[in-house]
Amino acid sequence: MALPAATLRTGARMPLLGLGTGPGSVGTWQTSTEPIYEAVKVAIDTGYRHIDNAESYAEEQAVGRALREKVGSVVERKDIFITSKLWNTRHHPDDVLPACQRSLTDLGLDYLDLYLMHFPVAWTRGDVYYPKDENGRAILATPDVHFMDTWKAMEKLVDAGLVKAIGVSNFNISQMEEVLTNGRIKPAVNQVESHPYLVCSKLLKCAADNNVVITAFSPLGRPGEESLHGVSPLKDPKVISIAEKHKKTPAQVCLRWQVQRGVVVVPKSTTPARILENSQIFDFELSTEDMETISGLNKDARIVKFGMCDDHPQWPFNGEF
Ligand code: A2P
Repeated sequence: MALPAATLRTGARMPLLGLGTGPGSVGTWQTSTEPIYEAVKVAIDTGYRHIDNAESYAEEQAVGRALREKVGSVVERKDIFITSKLWNTRHHPDDVLPACQRSLTDLGLDYLDLYLMHFPVAWTRGDVYYPKDENGRAILATPDVHFMDTWKAMEKLVDAGLVKAIGVSNFNISQMEEVLTNGRIKPAVNQVESHPYLVCSKLLKCAADNNVVITAFSPLGRPGEESLHGVSPLKDPKVISIAEKHKKTPAQVCLRWQVQRGVVVVPKSTTPARILENSQIFDFELSTEDMETISGLNKDARIVKFGMCDDHPQWPFNGEF
């Protein structure tokens, strides 16, 4: 099954559906990486050809084990799209190449299809992913490293052939525009949180105007967690009613709405039945009215806020998305 794909500015095809591998909530690691190892294998067997990773998820070795079992047998390397992300503690230009090499080693790959700057704020260098002071605030890089300096180091990864494309994540509109204006290589992707309660319509317009593909993380709004104060798009009466009309699940409707507006989705699941369910979104179509109804549910409700560094001038969430 060839899944529909977005075309990046590099000409590469990025499947509209990928498996998300991050933790359920920021800073909460799974006690074992076995579920993600199994999930990646199930996803590839189910037909997924895109896996979304990040160094900070601390799962790349497990993903790498699964890839080694499947790539070369079930799927050729060129037919699977692998993303990773540069973490906040690796923004110093000297740390960018080693961080990328580490992800490549852990994933067992010799190139990444896409490497994203995970967040526009630099934290203190080192191997502690969440360096915090006694008040629980993130310890920022001193001196600060502006994201354009980090970006210039990421451009060299493209030159060296270690990554096919580079992009950003959690960048607001003006930050994305700054990289578009000043980067020698323009960002191919901006990966942001998006679901029916956080539709990001202005960002989508700006991205489309500038040939940037948007990827939505947490496209289901992290069901089962209290992050949205117990409100889940999957329990929204309007989403449920559209789902019933199409004989689909609310999760499938949330994912279909995104891909139908050209947004790549990377839902996370370690449950085989849900990995399958989330892939069955290319055999139905939402009407214009359905699309507008879902977009009208927007509440600008954000789960991932990185509040521990909200005093930093580049903290993105007081800007527009
Ligand atoms: P599980 O891993 O137990 O399947 P998001 O990607 O929006 O952050 O959401 C991730 C969460 O959503 C995971 O906890 C996952 O649980 C759950 N999930 C994934 N797919 C579905 C689905 N189709 N229906 C309900 N919950 C889902």
